[in-house]
Amino acid sequence: MLHKNISINKDGHLTFAGMDVTLLAEKYGTPLMLLDEDRIRENIRVYKAAMAEHFGADSFPLFASKALCFKGVYRIAKEEGIGMDAVSVGELYTAEAAGFDLSKAYFHGNNKTDEDIAFGVKHGVGTFVVDNEDELLALDKHLAAVNKRQKVLLRISPGIDPHTFKAVVTGSVDSKFGSPIQTGQAEAMTRLALSLDNIDLVGFHCHIGSQIFDHEPFVDAADIMLRFIAYIREKTGFTASVLNLGGGLGVRYVDSHPDIDYAEVIGEMAMVIKQRAQEIGIELPRIVLEPGRSLVADAGMTVYTVGSVKSIPGYKSYVSVDGGMPDNPRYALYESPYTVYNASRANAAADFPCSLVGRCCESGDIIQENIVIPRPVRGEYMAVAVTGAYNYSMASNYNRIPRPLILLISAGQEKVAVRRESNEDMIRNEV
Ligand SMILES: Cc1ncc(COP(=O)(O)O)c(C=O)c1O
Repeated sequence: MLHKNISINKDGHLTFAGMDVTLLAEKYGTPLMLLDEDRIRENIRVYKAAMAEHFGADSFPLFASKALCFKGVYRIAKEEGIGMDAVSVGELYTAEAAGFDLSKAYFHGNNKTDEDIAFGVKHGVGTFVVDNEDELLALDKHLAAVNKRQKVLLRISPGIDPHTFKAVVTGSVDSKFGSPIQTGQAEAMTRLALSLDNIDLVGFHCHIGSQIFDHEPFVDAADIMLRFIAYIREKTGFTASVLNLGGGLGVRYVDSHPDIDYAEVIGEMAMVIKQRAQEIGIELPRIVLEPGRSLVADAGMTVYTVGSVKSIPGYKSYVSVDGGMPDNPRYALYESPYTVYNASRANAAADFPCSLVGRCCESGDIIQENIVIPRPVRGEYMAVAVTGAYNYSMASNYNRIPRPLILLISAGQEKVAVRRESNEDMIRNEV
């Protein structure tokens, strides 16, 4: 199977986190989002242990909450003792409501409003990751007004496109995020930060992309960032004590993707990064990573009920289910690959080529195209694996379809972590 938390039981039903998916679907209804809590904890522990072993005891992961945001996930992060990265007041608010200590939060975003800045400072966010000079000045002004200081990382774009790195080293200089080194804007922003009275600059941040399967692009980014740190030290005397290399390690969505050993990749990353720091002649700063997808994606599975199976002779077949782009917009956005199972007859011969589509009034409402599965019938359950990241957090109410219920599963027990949205919920703010 794709991941070790997916299996088939003696009844031929798909199981997830040790539970019969069809029984959960019958009990809780569909669309249903299953989350394997034990798997999330295991993923976090792998990162934590590998980072501490290879980068030192003060190095730890932050959970990139954009991947999955609801109170339960922050409770897990809190219990596992990791930090978190947020990009909005909504994420910070949710974390705080779950009892997460915001001194362990890193506040991102390329456009923090004055209200965002005020909220972050008031609620004791540990570190602001400042994207640009406008934000830096606005933050400093607010800090002066409330007589506070704030730890800050500056978001730098190292000019790397991880997918075409060797050929196009300047791929993301034109990114909307951060300040590029190449144009001199990163240095200018650093000088500005150092000149401001209420800003405690502690280091730098970069994030080069997502779904990256090996350590090389991270090492290349780290190399550029370490050189930048050395350059800034030489020019200004400022020594960065933190280097946040962002998130981005890949996840296996389909059989053709590699099954990454994260501890191994972090080990390889650390070996080269430490060596480069030595060559460049700087002490290794505290390394921070911000994984999102690789902590939660394989802990998720979405279960749907089949409504219709339509074959258009000479063309194609569609299996329509009771969810779609409102709960998983990733195929519509990026043509993201997913593995689809007929959860009701997982052992049957996969001989039916089709597309799995949603119920929205939109031809692009596709969950996955060109799959081959056991031919389903109305009422059977379909399961889409590895939906823990960027599904629920990207979900919408398009066509007024309520967001699914989230079940957290741990040690063979399930509990409702997020209730199914109701029609009343959807009109709550309407006057
Ligand atoms: C700044 C930053 N950090 C971390 C992440 C998490 O990336 P991933 O989920 O690929 O690990 C992202 C994703 O977009 C990001 O923009």
